[in-house]
Amino acid sequence: MAKVTTSTLEKMRAENDPITMLTCTDASFAGMLDAAEIDLLLIGDSLGMVVQGESSTLGVTMEDMVYHTRCVAKATSRALIVGDLPFGSYQRSPEQAFDNAVELMAAGAHMVKLEGGEVMAETVNFVVERGIPVFGHIGLTPQSVHALGGFKIQGKTAEAIDELVGAARALESAGASGLVLELVPNEVGKRVTEAVNIPIIGIGAGPFCSGQVLNLYDMLDIYQGRKPKFVKNFMMGAPSILDAVKAYASEVKAGTFPAPEHCFS
Ligand code: KIV
Repeated sequence: MAKVTTSTLEKMRAENDPITMLTCTDASFAGMLDAAEIDLLLIGDSLGMVVQGESSTLGVTMEDMVYHTRCVAKATSRALIVGDLPFGSYQRSPEQAFDNAVELMAAGAHMVKLEGGEVMAETVNFVVERGIPVFGHIGLTPQSVHALGGFKIQGKTAEAIDELVGAARALESAGASGLVLELVPNEVGKRVTEAVNIPIIGIGAGPFCSGQVLNLYDMLDIYQGRKPKFVKNFMMGAPSILDAVKAYASEVKAGTFPAPEHCFS
């Protein structure tokens, strides 16, 4: 199996071949997701909620992220591994972001992800220029949940849409390899995806993105907390976890997930 690299992502984006991404925190799941040919494994800081039982991602530390990145990296041979920079580990300065990105790369990540719009462009550029690929994350950015006033749909006004499109363009110009776009209406997902040439991976951002991501614990119905509307329970009717993950991959590839009931207008 050919390894997924940043060049693979560029090619998939150019050929409109939908990209699959799932969160992953341990070696057993990593081996399974790799066998199901999930393209990107994200060690997401949502592990604070689904693994650690916290009510937000804010308490997740670099030590947590390094530990889980190492677990995932050991069992992955095909997928591209994306390590999330946790809250407070990159916002202070580009140098701080670079130092912590180095730690995740040393633990086995192939790329790091950080949240924020245009304000993060300088930091993205600093890290990318020093040899570390970066994924951005715009729309609903969970590390800013208190500043945003809760887990609310983003991009609801013309001004907010322009801001998202501007952020996507600024991050692309800064060298980001792609962006996660979270919790926006379908039309906004479409506008942002059409505004740039890098892949836009949607979560609650509709069917017009270049790919989709879900939290593994949500889509396997393991997490018992509140589930957002954009989550589909792929365990329903699946004979095994591997089959559920394969069903997710084939529905994303076929464009049947997300369906209208998982979308916002
Ligand atoms: O941490 C996470 O799970 C994420 C996803 C929402 C993409 O960042």
